[in-house]
Amino acid sequence: MKFPIGVLVSGRGSNLEAILLHIKEGKLNAEVVAVISDREDARALKIAEDYGVDAYYIPCLEKKTVLVGEAEKKYIKQFKEKGVKLIILAGFMRILKKPFLDAFNGRIMNIHPALLPSFKGLDAQKQALEYGVKISGCTVHFVDAGVDMGPVILQESVPVYDSDSVDSLSQRILKHEHEIYSRAIQLFIEGRMKIEDRRVRILSGEKKKINSD
Ligand code: GAR
Repeated sequence: MKFPIGVLVSGRGSNLEAILLHIKEGKLNAEVVAVISDREDARALKIAEDYGVDAYYIPCLEKKTVLVGEAEKKYIKQFKEKGVKLIILAGFMRILKKPFLDAFNGRIMNIHPALLPSFKGLDAQKQALEYGVKISGCTVHFVDAGVDMGPVILQESVPVYDSDSVDSLSQRILKHEHEIYSRAIQLFIEGRMKIEDRRVRILSGEKKKINSD
């Protein structure tokens, strides 16, 4: 049986698309059973539709940057009804609060376009360029109550060139985002992660149990 995942999106959806492609190619033993967007115009919704995945636009009118109130309840209900066992944030631009975090405790991942703990929050690639770092990258991490703070699962680095613009650096990082996100999801599904304090140890070798409950 394929592992049921739910994806939260707000925009372009290239990470969602990479995940769906990897599933189609048999590289990822998951099924995206629900995609939820807080924005009606998110291209990600169209991508989900193209792949035949159930996709929902659920607005959150109370606040702009956090998922709260009635919307938060609806998101939890929808994912629970679909039997989602892992939540993937793929360019979802709202902070999750305790009720959602508790509903999917230890089962929420995010991707961030910088090497955390550097350049948390918005416009990470711009922050990296302005700071003048020579190396940047991307991070897949578990989500906890802090913003871009949860235990790091995988990271990939890229060089930053003198000639880089925000766009060129973002593109270089994005290619790696598309690879490491699926890898992290597959490791989770195979039960190959052990969390000790903040450290996520990746267990090698034979496939361990499927993370199904
Ligand atoms: C990605 O670069 C992702 O890392 C970033 O938004 C982009 C979404 O692109 N996420 C964050 O900055 C979260 N703090 P996508 O919609 O094409 O996947």
